[in-house]
Amino acid sequence: MNAEPRYNDIYYKNTTFNSQILDVVNNNTESLHNYSKPLDWEQLFRDKHPVEIEVGPGKGRFLLEASKQYPNINYVGVERAQKYVEITRLRFEKYIRHFSVDEKSGLFENVRLVWTDANYFLTRYVPDTSVQAYHVYFPDPWPKARQQKRRIFRNKDFLKAIARTLISGYGKLYLMTDYVEYFNEIQDRLGQHKALRLVLSDPEPYKNITTNFEMKYQSDGREIYRAVYEKM
Ligand SMILES: C[S@@+](CC[C@H](N)C(=O)[O-])C[C@H]1O[C@@H](n2cnc3c(N)ncnc32)[C@H](O)[C@@H]1O
Repeated sequence: MNAEPRYNDIYYKNTTFNSQILDVVNNNTESLHNYSKPLDWEQLFRDKHPVEIEVGPGKGRFLLEASKQYPNINYVGVERAQKYVEITRLRFEKYIRHFSVDEKSGLFENVRLVWTDANYFLTRYVPDTSVQAYHVYFPDPWPKARQQKRRIFRNKDFLKAIARTLISGYGKLYLMTDYVEYFNEIQDRLGQHKALRLVLSDPEPYKNITTNFEMKYQSDGREIYRAVYEKM
């Protein structure tokens, strides 16, 4: 991989040809490539509710809790690893079965799981100024020096896409990591983006919802670094 690869369709060819959008309520799965670029959120969710995107939901704890607590927000979880897409899908399925959720309740109709690369998805499928919030929790830190170029916040197209797609005036980027060196790097990189500013968002609407990694690290007593940015 080059230090600054060109993130064109050729670059993503082998990693995204299987990309899918999954409805966690009825398990309906469709190829992402059948959808328009950019997506029409209203058509996808069949309502006009605001949209929030979680990048790398992993085992899906945050996605399930957030979508349950805020039924009037639409959530899109974009996960690259098929294994974690399946774990998250099963998490919703088990919840629905365990609590005998009635389809008519509408619970989890506000969730779509996208199996693809987040860089690919944000740069091609997310419309301008259409996202109320991004959630990026414990992004892979790639600690080895020769692998650090894989860090998602080093991808300028990813940063530009976040700035382009957040709603001006109040669109937020929520961040969390246990890796202080990466946290500092992220803050440096976001600090160079004129459209984004660091905000103190207290109390945050998501303070009481933990991710899988957050739970694990909290119980290990590890320090967790958090930040919230807002689109100006
Ligand atoms: C360290 S885990 C954190 C999982 C979850 N956010 C949490 O806090 O428990 C990072 C997750 O991001 C996913 N991921 C990494 N790079 C990605 C990318 N470019 N697009 C989508 N998902 C990605 C990984 O597959 C993994 O599930």
